[in-house]
Amino acid sequence: MAIVREKYYCGLDVGNKEIKVGIVKVKDSSWWPKARLSQAVLGLGESVLDREIELLGSDGHKTLGFSNGAVSDLGELADGIHASVQTLLRKVKVKLKEVYLGVGCDLVEVREADAVIPLVDRSANKIITHRDMKKVVDQARALNIQIDEEVLHDLPQYYTIDGANRAMDPSGLYGRKLGVHSLIILANANRVRNIVRAVHQAGYDVPHVFFNSYAAGEIALNASERAQGRIMMDIGSQVTDLLIFKDDTLKGFKKIPMGGDHFTQSIAQQLNLSFDLAEEIKKSHASTLSTDRTHDEEILVKKESAYRPVRHKDICSSMEPQVQRFLEYVREALAGMETLDCPDIIMIGGGALLTGLIERIGQAVNRPARLASMNIHCATGAMNTAVFSAVVGLAKKGFKQGVRYAIRSSSDNWTKNISNRLQELYYEYF
Ligand SMILES: Nc1ncnc2c1ncn2[C@@H]1O[C@H](COP(=O)(O)OP(=O)(O)OP(=O)(O)O)[C@@H](O)[C@H]1O
Ligand SMILES: [Mg+2]
Repeated sequence: MAIVREKYYCGLDVGNKEIKVGIVKVKDSSWWPKARLSQAVLGLGESVLDREIELLGSDGHKTLGFSNGAVSDLGELADGIHASVQTLLRKVKVKLKEVYLGVGCDLVEVREADAVIPLVDRSANKIITHRDMKKVVDQARALNIQIDEEVLHDLPQYYTIDGANRAMDPSGLYGRKLGVHSLIILANANRVRNIVRAVHQAGYDVPHVFFNSYAAGEIALNASERAQGRIMMDIGSQVTDLLIFKDDTLKGFKKIPMGGDHFTQSIAQQLNLSFDLAEEIKKSHASTLSTDRTHDEEILVKKESAYRPVRHKDICSSMEPQVQRFLEYVREALAGMETLDCPDIIMIGGGALLTGLIERIGQAVNRPARLASMNIHCATGAMNTAVFSAVVGLAKKGFKQGVRYAIRSSSDNWTKNISNRLQELYYEYF
């Protein structure tokens, strides 16, 4: 009887509102056939890969000791992380020492980066190798980041050969100069270090840090959607991210300085309620649909030990100016992005759950918009994809990172590796 071994991966999203954790189970990839391993890394046969991954559980707890994308109390944040991860590990009966950390968009910036390197010293031309490609990508990174910045993702968009022809993979071609146009996703190094420190203090190692919304694309979009082109919108508490995926990579990114909390704030101010009470009302009664702004029925709101009636239409109308402002931001942001190949908008983030907001976004930008659905199997039945796709994506990215490492360090192909390297050295010097 064949024994199927399993591996577990944990994603941790330290958000402004909530610490979220997700744990996935993957059939041990060291047992996979080599072709499937390569497919997993290259993003090919991703639907097969998704069938090997199962979400065991996800959970969210209020964030303490962290605000506006920075640690404000190391001990408090570390305790919160420990409690959140430990509770879920116990629930799914798994032991882990590592978590794949995600950082949010108020900490993250995306920058275009270009660089060119000469390829020839003595001879007129040279065959481009993978080492050359790595060298020019490293050069683009070095030239375009500051000393206090840390790169989370390096995403080459295309290469140029001799300043003229473009290629997605120029290895094996002749050239004198190799250029690259990259997108780099970066964050303030000390802010990231402080969050990693809190995770260490909580008792876990961090093999890798990713950008949350980018990792969420692994789950909210399937492989063909990421290849064909899709807009993904992540409405968080304070900030909204707009990401364009195409050719299985990130092609564009914009931040909107508004999130779900701005709608809560409007309800609180207009109806003279506390933020927490307004938040509760928003989740259970608020709607952005115009038909709901005419309903006269009242709901009873508990305020200072007494019940006060509030009209449903007043709750909905109180948010309308902020909803209009938000839609204007979305229109403006999308107008400045290349979205021709993207047939629709896929929504994630807790803010996307506000009743009617997805429909309003679709109408505002004249394009269908829909809530993301989960692409992998979930052991506990239905899962809140809007809120948890980032942590599941982080865990999946952690798994893919491990597979990439396993392929690179696999020693059974050492003769081929040496011969490739000798061939590259030959091209480099002759
Ligand atoms: N059912 C719901 N209806 C309306 N809004 C909701 C609902 N659930 C969550 N939200 C809103 O979603 C926002 C939080 O979203 P999310 O959990 O994605 O943010 P976060 O990841 O903690 O924060 P950030 O990404 O900004 O760091 C809050 O503004 C909250 O009010
Ligand atoms: Mg978030």
